[in-house]
Amino acid sequence: MNYRHAFHAGNHADCLKHALLVSLVTALAGKAAPFAVLDTHAGAGAYDLAGPAAARGGEAEGGIGRLRADPPPPLARWLALVEAAGPLHPGSPALIASLLRPGDRLVCCELHPEEYRALRRRFGAIAGIELHRRDGWEALRGLLPPRERRGLVLIDPPFEQPGEFERLAAGLRAGRARFPGGVFAAWYPIKHRAPVRAFHTALREAGLRDLVAAELWLREPLDPARLNGSGLLVGNPPWGFEAEAGAILAALHARLSDGGAGSGWAVTRLVEE
Ligand SMILES: C[S@@+](CC[C@H](N)C(=O)[O-])C[C@H]1O[C@@H](n2cnc3c(N)ncnc32)[C@H](O)[C@@H]1O
Repeated sequence: MNYRHAFHAGNHADCLKHALLVSLVTALAGKAAPFAVLDTHAGAGAYDLAGPAAARGGEAEGGIGRLRADPPPPLARWLALVEAAGPLHPGSPALIASLLRPGDRLVCCELHPEEYRALRRRFGAIAGIELHRRDGWEALRGLLPPRERRGLVLIDPPFEQPGEFERLAAGLRAGRARFPGGVFAAWYPIKHRAPVRAFHTALREAGLRDLVAAELWLREPLDPARLNGSGLLVGNPPWGFEAEAGAILAALHARLSDGGAGSGWAVTRLVEE
């Protein structure tokens, strides 16, 4: 387990994932019934963008660094949560936690010992938040469905091992079999188109229904060694998600791409309800 999210926090892929995540959790909070969120690969929860890890690659400069001034309206809700979080940049657990109401629940899994310790320090004593040093793939079987029978599952693996697209497709199948009514959001890298196409085909062939892919790429995705863009696969999206995701991606594209001809964004319905 070499991956440390601190090196990548706030980059363009984090921006896509977090802006869409806030839209999905906000939709859940729009109804009175309590909900639960399972964050299978939670990370440390919040990151110091001025620290040595973030500074090494400078990735946040090309992401959140381009968004803070004069926030575009479709990104305003997420960016207000980023500002409200204080000096550390909020990762998925911090963003979700900030949207919980009394009675809602956040369940985080994280395997890396240091990341898990950081998570415990930040969220260990907060009512409604449960932390597990547990394999997130296994949690898709062991922790679903939530007792609330309403909620979201965020799957955000590091993609540092071969076979991660296949594991993600298998995880989505297993999770949705256990929690068919849940909203699922799975992040994936776009380096080259071929593995993304194969992933989408595998999901269609597995018979999963109601799937939308929201994708942003900053360069033509032709270099398999470079993170050219990323996507969030959403299963059982809430009503209105496709239009909201389109506005979010258009705003991210306008600020984060340098206008190159090979850049773009798309919200694609892969499978109907
Ligand atoms: C991309 S980062 C998560 C970032 C976080 N979701 C966010 O948006 O702020 C992926 C995390 O998964 C952890 N991880 C790797 N394999 C795991 C597994 N099998 N189960 C749980 N966590 C795992 C890594 O240590 C890393 O912290």
